[in-house]
Amino acid sequence: VSGFAPGQDRWIAGLGRVRDLVRQTLVARQLAEHLQPGLEVLDVGCGQGTQAIALARDGHSVTGVDASAEMLAEAERAAAAEPDEVRARLRFEQGDALARRDGPHDLVCCHGVAMYLPAIQPLAAALVSAVRPGGLVSLLTRNRAGIAMRAGMQGDWAAALDGFDATRYTNRLGVEDARADDPEAVRSALAAAGAQTVAWYGVRLFCDHWSNSEAPDDVAALLAAEEQAGRRDPYRGLAALTHTIAAAR
Ligand SMILES: C[S@@+](CC[C@H](N)C(=O)[O-])C[C@H]1O[C@@H](n2cnc3c(N)ncnc32)[C@H](O)[C@@H]1O
Repeated sequence: VSGFAPGQDRWIAGLGRVRDLVRQTLVARQLAEHLQPGLEVLDVGCGQGTQAIALARDGHSVTGVDASAEMLAEAERAAAAEPDEVRARLRFEQGDALARRDGPHDLVCCHGVAMYLPAIQPLAAALVSAVRPGGLVSLLTRNRAGIAMRAGMQGDWAAALDGFDATRYTNRLGVEDARADDPEAVRSALAAAGAQTVAWYGVRLFCDHWSNSEAPDDVAALLAAEEQAGRRDPYRGLAALTHTIAAAR
């Protein structure tokens, strides 16, 4: 059973709400800046298929892989609502994120999965093994600095104090013992696996401590502010998530 399984129902309930919206929108925008047209994409831990479907809409051919049959069923349901030409560019299959895949993909995505796995290095190695030389890996991880940051912004001082030196945390989905990585450690793991970071972003700084029921009046303005924070120091280093894009040698 994946470490994600206890949080699955809450994750599905939060889809499309403000925290998910910020995350999915910024990841898609950041990724799009690095892509050529017509890529072969592997989305590892694709879940409900948000990014896989967005990439297929943009003309890429996408295989989504996930450990959970329920999450794959969500992805199939969402894909079924797409036009035929988009559906034709999508396929979903069950599989493990850590499996080595010697496939010449142009882009391998793995968003929001590393926190449910024991360590970053084996994941980085598996992802890089699936990408062609010169192809890209897009990895979204939980930022270790975000543990104390979120607790502090919520006014939970005891959790903030514990969070400064923590690498594990109980996440908003109720998953205990989720794991967080320093952005530098992600870049090192990718480099050791043979992929050099070309860009990295923070995702969700200003609204990370909100409850999902807090929808701002002006979502576009929130997205614009979050996007700027995610692109520059020192803000990106404190965001909840780190989006790293690396090119394979
Ligand atoms: C938080 S969801 C993220 C879904 C999607 N990538 C996104 O960013 O919206 C985490 C997903 O990772 C999947 N997952 C967790 N551990 C996995 C593993 N070892 N192999 C494959 N998928 C895994 C879960 O089933 C779940 O669908």
